[in-house]
Amino acid sequence: MEFNRINIGVIGCGHWGPNHIRIFSHLPGSSVLMCADPDQSRLESVKNSFLNIQTTADHKAIFNNPDIHAVCIAAPTNTHYALAKEALECGKHVLCEKPLAMKPEECHELKDLAERKKKVLMVGHIFLFNAGIVWLKECIGSGELGKIHYAYSTRTNLGPFRYDVNALWDLAPHDISIFNYLFDGSPVNVSARGQKCLGESHEDLAFATLEYPHDILANVHVSWLDPRKVRQITIVGDKKMVVWDDLDNIGPIKLYDKHVEKTKKFYETYGEFQLLSKEGSVMIPKVGASEPLKKQGEYFLSCIAKGIAPEVSDASKGLDVVRTLCAIQTSMEHQGSLIKIS
Ligand SMILES: NC(=O)c1ccc[n+]([C@@H]2O[C@H](COP(=O)([O-])OP(=O)(O)OC[C@H]3O[C@@H](n4cnc5c(N)ncnc54)[C@H](O)[C@@H]3O)[C@@H](O)[C@H]2O)c1
Repeated sequence: MEFNRINIGVIGCGHWGPNHIRIFSHLPGSSVLMCADPDQSRLESVKNSFLNIQTTADHKAIFNNPDIHAVCIAAPTNTHYALAKEALECGKHVLCEKPLAMKPEECHELKDLAERKKKVLMVGHIFLFNAGIVWLKECIGSGELGKIHYAYSTRTNLGPFRYDVNALWDLAPHDISIFNYLFDGSPVNVSARGQKCLGESHEDLAFATLEYPHDILANVHVSWLDPRKVRQITIVGDKKMVVWDDLDNIGPIKLYDKHVEKTKKFYETYGEFQLLSKEGSVMIPKVGASEPLKKQGEYFLSCIAKGIAPEVSDASKGLDVVRTLCAIQTSMEHQGSLIKIS
């Protein structure tokens, strides 16, 4: 089907929804016709910034509007599955914020429904559109790091706190989607601990260890109870090591020409270690500046216009992330037991 301009409805106008409204209002291929939120104050604030957008307290008005081709779901996580299902059933293309749903079987159902209805279903795994993360993917693919030994991510801040999901479900979808993308697969097992510091219902932090194929171990630390805002990933290969820091103004990537020579007889003294460790320069590559949310929006529109299923951040990738989140949650509830993921 050919579209001159793709009309979008945005569902959820809290903290994040207005960013989608801004992007789809400014992209040349789309217009935002309507947005929905049961909270009147959110709608007022959208009306003040975007004069031509119709607002509604009932998301069904968007689903029933025949002029709207696609919806963007930026409502709380525990509403994603029901809203995405209803949208697809009403014949809309869907860009759903992360995570796609809260159970693997819900993701399967949404994926099948989108295929049956021939609609694009994409998940807002925004970091797959981040120039620094794309650079990391190319760096790993080129073999520059050598064989990857392990990786770890830190995603912390003081707040914002959520009431529908814990810090794992809120924050870790980003890191899991990044590691799945970088390591071309999903974890085979996980083990994790979390803690409920501020209340009795939700974990405010989690430390999860994910084992990927090819002996790659990845650790994810997420927390909304931390003194510092950190967005970092470190990847250690047997040739080079790299650190991504999304908040570094000089450049998000630092490539360290460092490694340790492996010998048949490994070191026994510090002196021997010094001879084996190789320390070179640190390189800060130019990765270019682009807004990931804009790139994600452009990709969603191009999939609709071309009538193709998204390869980046499709429902299968959303399912992999949800399956991993469920396994981590189970492990947390069993004091860190190893949970296999089939
Ligand atoms: N990709 C990212 O970097 C990123 C960043 C922030 C949030 N998010 C995701 O975006 C979603 C929203 O997060 P937020 O921070 O904006 O939360 P929020 O609580 O600030 O806003 C959610 C809004 O949805 C509204 N809402 C609830 N039920 C609704 C319904 N049935 N129809 C329409 N609106 C409804 C609420 O009234 C609220 O205004 C979450 O899934 C979150 O994971 C993604």
